[in-house]
Amino acid sequence: MLDNYEKEPLNEATVRKSDANDKAGRPLVELRHVDKHFGKLHVLKDINLSVNQGEVLVVVGPSGSGKSTMCRTINRLETIDSGEILINGQRLPQEGKGLAMLRAEVGMVFQQFNLFANKSIIENVMLAPVKVRHMDKKKAYDLAMDLLARVGVESQANKMPSQLSGGQQQRVAIARALAMQPKVMLFDEPTSALDPEMVNEVLEVMTRLAHEGMTMICVTHEMGFARRVANSVVFMADGKILEQGTPDEFFDHPKTDRAKDFLSKILTH
Ligand SMILES: Nc1ncnc2c1ncn2[C@@H]1O[C@H](COP(=O)(O)OP(=O)(O)OP(=O)(O)O)[C@@H](O)[C@H]1O
Ligand SMILES: [Mg+2]
Repeated sequence: MLDNYEKEPLNEATVRKSDANDKAGRPLVELRHVDKHFGKLHVLKDINLSVNQGEVLVVVGPSGSGKSTMCRTINRLETIDSGEILINGQRLPQEGKGLAMLRAEVGMVFQQFNLFANKSIIENVMLAPVKVRHMDKKKAYDLAMDLLARVGVESQANKMPSQLSGGQQQRVAIARALAMQPKVMLFDEPTSALDPEMVNEVLEVMTRLAHEGMTMICVTHEMGFARRVANSVVFMADGKILEQGTPDEFFDHPKTDRAKDFLSKILTH
């Protein structure tokens, strides 16, 4: 893991990252022997995965391999059949207040931005802190404006989502997830619905977040991003994790035929 930090200048955030790892001594997100079926379809097969604090994990794999399902189990948008998922050492509760609290610690950004169409940009970002965290409106407004500035769309605060470009909407979706001050951010193909010229502005926001020390799990086929930012790459196929390694290990020396085949297809596009 430390190898990757050497690619970045050693700034405060990277120092904090390694401190945090030492102190925590246990993964922030852990999946142990997770299995899941959709009816007869076995979509997650004995998934074992750990993500340390400050680590960026990129998940790649062919369509239908279970990447989205795995992400969705982490904040329990999907149930699992067996195994366990721990956040900060705590098992994901089945329901109730405990689940709501743990879910608030996991921010999620989807391919489709899912902003509330009938609310302004600022209202979209303020909503969860006010409703879920009972933050007072002034404080939530200030927090939302800060976050919108961080993702570079503060000038759009009073517009409606439909008035923004896809890239801007996705950056608002990131700000909205950050407003809950999550411990980990999950990104499920956040740039794949965007026009090509808007991909970079979203990847830049994600890169900055990573450098600030955010723990991130990203399903993405943006290989440049994965190489530059990921500490670790996981390759999934048919519901299984077939490979895990550093970006250099995975992209330059894939071990399995499935991974080699997958990489030859995406890299030639
Ligand atoms: N709600 C559901 N009910 C039944 N089957 C589902 C459901 N959601 C996903 N599946 C199936 O589970 C398998 C894994 O789907 P998943 O969406 O996790 O794959 P993925 O790796 O994210 O694919 P993609 O790259 O296309 O997004 C697929 O065969 C899919 O058709
Ligand atoms: Mg998917």
